[in-house]
Amino acid sequence: MSKVFVTGGTGYIGSHTVLELLRNGHEVVVMDNLSNSSAESLNRVKALTGISVPFYQADLLDKEAMSAIFAEHTFESVVHFAGLKAVGESVEKPLWYYKNNITGTLNLLEVMQENRVKNLVFSSSCTVYGEPDKVPISEDAPLSAVNPYGQTKLTIEYILRDLFQADQDWNMAILRYFNPVGADQSGTMGEDPNGIPNNLMPYVTQVAVGHLPYLRVFGNDYPTQDGTGIRDYIHVTDLALGHLKAIETLRLSPGLIRCNLGTGNGYSVLDVVKAFETASGVAIPYQFMPRRAGDAAAAYADPTLAETLLGWRAERDLEQMCKDSWKWQVNNPNGYS
Ligand code: NAD
Ligand code: UFG
Repeated sequence: MSKVFVTGGTGYIGSHTVLELLRNGHEVVVMDNLSNSSAESLNRVKALTGISVPFYQADLLDKEAMSAIFAEHTFESVVHFAGLKAVGESVEKPLWYYKNNITGTLNLLEVMQENRVKNLVFSSSCTVYGEPDKVPISEDAPLSAVNPYGQTKLTIEYILRDLFQADQDWNMAILRYFNPVGADQSGTMGEDPNGIPNNLMPYVTQVAVGHLPYLRVFGNDYPTQDGTGIRDYIHVTDLALGHLKAIETLRLSPGLIRCNLGTGNGYSVLDVVKAFETASGVAIPYQFMPRRAGDAAAAYADPTLAETLLGWRAERDLEQMCKDSWKWQVNNPNGYS
């Protein structure tokens, strides 16, 4: 099988993708600057697979360090997860986000080009649809950015489009993730956010484990069935498997593809709370709060293009997502530390 270079491979989605790549016979090399993750995730990967993945603690902004890695290995493809992802922080520190995500990606693309490695899978986000005017969201929906983080994703999508137009030897899959949650079924790997979580599922699991007193539900006056926001939660293992399908697809039918990775199902905040309570047996106290700035009422994917192009479909339901998130949190109340 092929040798895959994974940037951001110690992070939440990256580490789960590394695990699935190894389980499916790929050889993997990981780089990450550990700014938002721990190398312990790769120890957990080793415990599950018996494979010790070569790991480079390096920064995308350090082009020489990246070139040195490419000089040591012959990669068939690159899966590019590395980047900063907190929306609020991106509003406070836009220059840092643009530099890290965009300059970092430009460095990676240059090093790939210099080494004639031209197969890339890129982590984009449904944030590129801005405030969607209709759901489900298909790939031809209008694109816009409503914060600097989203602008970095959109800009990188445009850079990849222009690069492909200039040189069609490139093969690229731009994957627009909806809301990744859950954890490997083993309960030994999962999401380990720094500080108080921004996202719903890790917040819920931290309430369940007693680290936080109650969930703040942001808005109960949206035009949805129970007034709370609707999202398309996708199990991180399904998401990881989507990357394997993308690598295979680029090999069989080269080109540039963009597709959503979501389930196509929309669940409200209260649906998630109920499903989590059922899966864990733990009650989640919550209080309604005002809407959070910038949140859409509803965002869920039209997942048909991924099925057509990649032969991929999400298989795990909300109950499984909650069970696996809970198993990870209860076995690792302090995450990887
Ligand atoms: P994560 O923070 O767990 O992983 C990202 C990794 O990139 C981290 O390990 C971090 O240390 C590393 N990193 C950041 N800047 C770097 C740099 N300059 N050099 C080297 N490493 C660097 O986040 P995640 O949830 O696993 O997200 C992975 C990718 O998916 C990101 O690009 C993110 O924007 C995208 N994405 C995430 C979500 C989500 O909700 N989790 C949704 C859509 C898209
Ligand atoms: N929510 C709460 N309480 C919380 C956290 C979230 O009620 O403590 C609600 C939100 O208002 C929203 C839903 O739960 O209705 C989901 O919120 P998340 O923060 O988990 O996810 P978002 O859809 O807001 O954002 C995620 C990523 C962003 C990315 C976006 C689109 O965090 O980085 O998906 O990809 F831009």
